[in-house]
Amino acid sequence: MCGIVGYVGPKSCGDLLVDGLRRLEYRGYDSAGLAVHDGKEIRVVRSVGKLGNLVSALKERPLAGAPGIGHTRWATHGRPSETNAHPHVAGGIALVHNGIIENHLHLKRQLMEQGVKFSSDTDTEIVAHLVEREVRAGHKLLEAVRRALAVVEGAYAVAVLHKDEPDRIVIAKNASPLVIGLGEGETYCASDIPAILPYTRTMVLLEEGEIALLTAGGVEITTLKGERVDRKPKTITWNAAQAEKSGYKHFMLKEIHEQPRAIEDTMRGRIDLEKWDIIDSEIGIDAAAAADVKRVYFIACGTSFHASLFGRYLVESLSGLPATCELASELVVRDPVVGPGDLVVAVSQSGETIDTLAALKAAKDRGARILALANVLDSAIPRAAHGSLYTHAGPEIGVASTKCFTAQLAAMVLLAVYLGRRRNVLSTDRAREVLQGMLEVPHRMRDVLSQDDSLRDLARKFQHAKSFLFLGRGVSFPIAVEGALKLKEISYIHAEGYAAGEMKHGPIALIDENMPVVVVMPRDRTYEKTLSNLQEVKAREGRTLALATRGDAEVGAIADHVFYLPKVDAMLTPFITSLPLQLLAYYVADFKGTDVDQPRNLAKTVTVE
Ligand code: M6R
Repeated sequence: MCGIVGYVGPKSCGDLLVDGLRRLEYRGYDSAGLAVHDGKEIRVVRSVGKLGNLVSALKERPLAGAPGIGHTRWATHGRPSETNAHPHVAGGIALVHNGIIENHLHLKRQLMEQGVKFSSDTDTEIVAHLVEREVRAGHKLLEAVRRALAVVEGAYAVAVLHKDEPDRIVIAKNASPLVIGLGEGETYCASDIPAILPYTRTMVLLEEGEIALLTAGGVEITTLKGERVDRKPKTITWNAAQAEKSGYKHFMLKEIHEQPRAIEDTMRGRIDLEKWDIIDSEIGIDAAAAADVKRVYFIACGTSFHASLFGRYLVESLSGLPATCELASELVVRDPVVGPGDLVVAVSQSGETIDTLAALKAAKDRGARILALANVLDSAIPRAAHGSLYTHAGPEIGVASTKCFTAQLAAMVLLAVYLGRRRNVLSTDRAREVLQGMLEVPHRMRDVLSQDDSLRDLARKFQHAKSFLFLGRGVSFPIAVEGALKLKEISYIHAEGYAAGEMKHGPIALIDENMPVVVVMPRDRTYEKTLSNLQEVKAREGRTLALATRGDAEVGAIADHVFYLPKVDAMLTPFITSLPLQLLAYYVADFKGTDVDQPRNLAKTVTVE
């Protein structure tokens, strides 16, 4: 999730582009760069790290002129470095990109066979070369970009300059956002509204598969197939703070709603739809090593640990390997029996958690193969691992993890299918069922998120409770524990997550008419047993909220409140059941007026043991 900004008009645009990038830093910030046409040629300045580094570089090498494009990067392909920073240049073309090019390996191979030399490890540079090839063939910039994108598969928003057409920017979009801002004799573009809101409130949103020619006089939009598009501009009434959160009250709520996209991006380009398999190069462990694994050993903390609990079910069920799960801070205080034959999966959203890093090192010292599962490219945990499997959730700003959690679940499905296939224990039919189910998950998630209002109503009813119990069995157990963690982190209400089968061994003593019990019970093989637990809670006057599959009348007759969920493959219900629990926690906290995005005593990245 990178940030793009562009300007065409009479002003010298260097400062304006930096200002726009500053408002987009929340989208990612491992490197940044500008390309500005100075009237004769396109000049580029890039730097690694925060935007301040780019500002320092621009003091030494100021850029004057227009049009110009800028970019702040959140790496997905190629580590954060100056050479991997955007804009990428090919001949007279400069290009910035947000998204993931799925067929990048294939396209790169083709271009190399044609003699193209690459100067970065990015998928983006491929698009710059594709456009340049079309320009060399005699096409004007607009047509060149259209032709280049015809062979590109994946998600992109691009903005492109051409040395010989100094009055224009061409932009195009598929699955990554782009807005166009219309000023008086000047035109802007950006990944998101806040970047250009100080300059204009008149905006046009580019839709999927559209390409636009921006000049100082305005915009002409066509589809990638060349059909003309007439779209009326909108007037944006948000203030700057609302705009940064896309109109949501908090980053956490925005990130909850970004989950379908985070899952799509995490799966993008990694599934072979013909063989119903996972593409080898995408998993961080090669096929031979995968076939040799004897046990999978997840290590993690907090929410990443809860994702790992789900990972254990997946690995056992889909790959037939024994799998275990350990809190990183506990592994380092034992003499763990871990070593050759073990695939240790170090799961961490930030990639910097010190406990997980310490456990990783302990396992590596004992001879285990280490796979990092992280959201931040080239962070400490991936750097210390033998290989990495990245989630593509984009930066998560809210301290309480939401979209990174479900993106981790998606990465674990890919890993489990990959291990199952390489070990020849997972049939094509079952792999197809699971992967087809995964491809439908984002749609089912959107269905749940569209019922946001009913979760707010439920939260209003429960906001004054002093303590909550969350129950679930099988794959719903990690979700119950994660639901309890979310609630306590941001609402400061005590909550416990328990395996439903354990309730009778202790927590049942807590249940009375004041105790809300949230029961995660989609229709799966654990359903009947969990239904009995629900009855046991009701018999003790507990206030019950059940998460059940649509059409489940039995639960409706017992529970005080039911939130109904769309049906998905029984293995994949955690993608769906996590969402209402995140929203419940969010709305309870919001009713209580806590600092949802930065709850007390918590840090986004925990770098102390
Ligand atoms: O960055 P990591 O995934 O390694 O972080 C682990 C935990 O600190 C983190 O999940 C924490 O529990 C969050 N606050 C959860 O919302």
